[in-house]
Amino acid sequence: MNKNKSIYILGIESSCDDTSAAVIYNGKILSNVIANQEVHAKYGGVVPELASRAHQQNIVPVIQQAIQKANIDKKDLNAIAFTRGPGLMGSLLVGTSFAKSLSLALNIPLIAVNHMQGHVLAHFIEEENQPKPTFPFLCLTISGGHTQIVKISDYFTMEVLGETLDDAVGEAFDKSAKILGLPYPGGPLIDKHAQLGNPNAFTFTKPKVDELNFSFSGLKTGILYFIQKKVKENPDFIKENLNDICASIQKTIVEILFDKLKLAVQKTGITQIAIAGGVSANSEIRKELKASEKKLGWTTYIPKFEYTTDNAGMIAIAGYLKYLKNNFSETNITATSRLKVSDN
Ligand code: KG4
Ligand code: ZN
Repeated sequence: MNKNKSIYILGIESSCDDTSAAVIYNGKILSNVIANQEVHAKYGGVVPELASRAHQQNIVPVIQQAIQKANIDKKDLNAIAFTRGPGLMGSLLVGTSFAKSLSLALNIPLIAVNHMQGHVLAHFIEEENQPKPTFPFLCLTISGGHTQIVKISDYFTMEVLGETLDDAVGEAFDKSAKILGLPYPGGPLIDKHAQLGNPNAFTFTKPKVDELNFSFSGLKTGILYFIQKKVKENPDFIKENLNDICASIQKTIVEILFDKLKLAVQKTGITQIAIAGGVSANSEIRKELKASEKKLGWTTYIPKFEYTTDNAGMIAIAGYLKYLKNNFSETNITATSRLKVSDN
């Protein structure tokens, strides 16, 4: 273990539509720069080809800014960590190739990081007033691409206990928002409108799925038919009821998530519960999880806002934890669009 040394790691994240770079020093984030890609908004979703091109444009300035903000020289870096997968292949290739070149140029180790592990390991970033989970704990990882309940027995020992069989929960938020005419990504907008609405105004049918798995495609179709029917009766239905519709959709989604989380606690006996991923920024999910401490006796871990959606800080902490184990990658490592949270 290199634990007593001063370790600077550069993290690079380019799995989807955000180009991000972060510098971490002994587990503490010094900089975490994110360039969002506005280009996708008008298409209502991420266009892979455009995402790769935007990464290509952004990667150098984003990394330069991260190093500058951290107030270090690139020669101070001890290793380069990058997202190997899962994600969009063209996007991953930009970060992977850049990480390889930089590690060669600086003659420092390369560390491949699994994006899904990164979301979970964001909980180990050194932050004031942010206690770290102890093993084993459960993590509800909810994002635009994933919905899973993971059992974490050690930093890199993770097991999926249940996951979505179709759409991810972020897609359920984004697609519902699209039906309501809200721009992409609609999740944060549903959250915003929901805070002003009545969650019991409308009821949507919850899916029946076995064990700890999830399904969101039926809910999306149910919402679509409901809205189509109501708009036929009253063309202004959405405008007049937007807050209530959003609150009702959000309530249904939160219930689906918590029903499964409670079942996971019952099955495993583990009451240390974390959330991760872009959708864990949702205010109702955060509120409900906090409330479960008193209601259900859980110990909960809610990440800081900036570590929920895709960011390189989470890749940097995963890289740091791998560095401590001397877990480095060869330069012939390849990006991979499919990777399970259990894959190291
Ligand atoms: O983790 P992330 O940044 O990217 C993926 O790896 O997918 O997650 C993005 C997802 C999007 O679907 C976005 O709508 C959703 O997270 N999201 C939210 C909120 N903030 C982001 N969904 C609901 N409420 C929010 N406040
Ligand atoms: Zn993600």
